[in-house]
Amino acid sequence: MTNFELYNPTNYVFGKGQITKLPDLIAKGKKILLAYGGGSIFKNGIYDQVKTALTGYEIVEFGGIEPNPRYETLMKAVQIIKDQNIDFILAVGGGSVIDGVKFISAAVKFEGEPKEILHKRLLIKDLSQVIPFGTVLTLPATGSEMNSGAVITINESQEKLSFGGSALFPQFSICDPTVIESLPKKQIQNGIVDAYTHVLEQYLTYPHDALLQDRIAESILQTLVEIGPSVVENPSDYKLASNYMWCATMALNGLIQKGVPSDWATHMIGHELTALYEIDHARTLAIIGPNLYRVMFETKKDKLAQYGERVFGITGNTIEDKAEKAIEKTVEFLHEMGMQTKLSENTSDNYTETADFIVKRFEERGWKALGEKQNITPEKVRAIVEMSY
Ligand code: NZQ
Ligand code: ZN
Repeated sequence: MTNFELYNPTNYVFGKGQITKLPDLIAKGKKILLAYGGGSIFKNGIYDQVKTALTGYEIVEFGGIEPNPRYETLMKAVQIIKDQNIDFILAVGGGSVIDGVKFISAAVKFEGEPKEILHKRLLIKDLSQVIPFGTVLTLPATGSEMNSGAVITINESQEKLSFGGSALFPQFSICDPTVIESLPKKQIQNGIVDAYTHVLEQYLTYPHDALLQDRIAESILQTLVEIGPSVVENPSDYKLASNYMWCATMALNGLIQKGVPSDWATHMIGHELTALYEIDHARTLAIIGPNLYRVMFETKKDKLAQYGERVFGITGNTIEDKAEKAIEKTVEFLHEMGMQTKLSENTSDNYTETADFIVKRFEERGWKALGEKQNITPEKVRAIVEMSY
């Protein structure tokens, strides 16, 4: 096992009715920016619950944070915080609102052009340089409620860029599984597939000595396979909803990444597809993931075989046989979760042009050696994108 530090200061407040705890979690006298998305919180009653819980606090509202949050929109909130001396932000929403709030938090006191945070992928570590924030999660998927990363899109240049740092953990996250009752089926499908792929990015590498990490990762995958299709159909079933929410957090709160190699190339390529075609984040992963496993088969086959055996109960005579079946089973699961796994089902753009564009961008950014063995070269990226059509 490789050396690691496990630091996660987020107070994770889980369960039914927990929104009422907001006044215990935000100090009296704080002036709060209440940040939200396109308005789902007004329809499902979450806004009312939050406002009732925060009676007596001074609140300024900032709505309109888009799915795949935009730098241009977030900078408006940065100005409001500066103008009105706001000292706490409450994100009420899914990954986009929470990520957006992480950027706002980092940008307010940033000396210089805040775009640099994204372009230079700066690590934000100094707690005195950020605006503290908490979250009320409304969509289990990204793990953003308990991690310190964020992904922001710059409209002007059509770039989707990630950043983060230890100062950007939420102070608290209220995670009430009943919020999923109002989610469209498509968003629940997205959430399951995003969480599933987060585990695969940190697990589907090569055999190593971190036995417990493997077992935790496999148990999250098994749970998602077990509950995924039913939670889409029965979002008001609390047993299903609560397991879904906890799995999504556990998939990307840092725990399973400790002491092990990780990949993340599926996400890096997927983000380009969202930036280019506005395909939902999880749906880009369903397109790229299986093809990445095919192109990187030699590197990943041992772990693919282990995954197949332990998660799907696959048997076979050789490692290769089991590994191939594991990829097939993954695609089956993705289809069951309502995913399309071909890029051509989402865009009619010419595939060599898309691949050229992505490869050129990666080269310009110096991303020439991705993956757990740094052997996902630009040529491999090209092959993965082309195979995804
Ligand atoms: O904007 P509103 O009106 O709230 O509607 C949202 C949005 O349209 C809706 N929604 C959320 N909760 C709802 C609801 N509708 C009804 N009932 C509810 N309870 O769902 C739509 C999608 O929301 P969004 O926040 O965009 O989805 P998600 O949570 O999947 O977040 C996706 C974003 O997170 C980034 C992605 O790249 C993408 O930008 N990621 C962040 C990560 C991180 N911070 O660690 C890791 C991930 O890999 C991912 O890249
Ligand atoms: Zn993701």
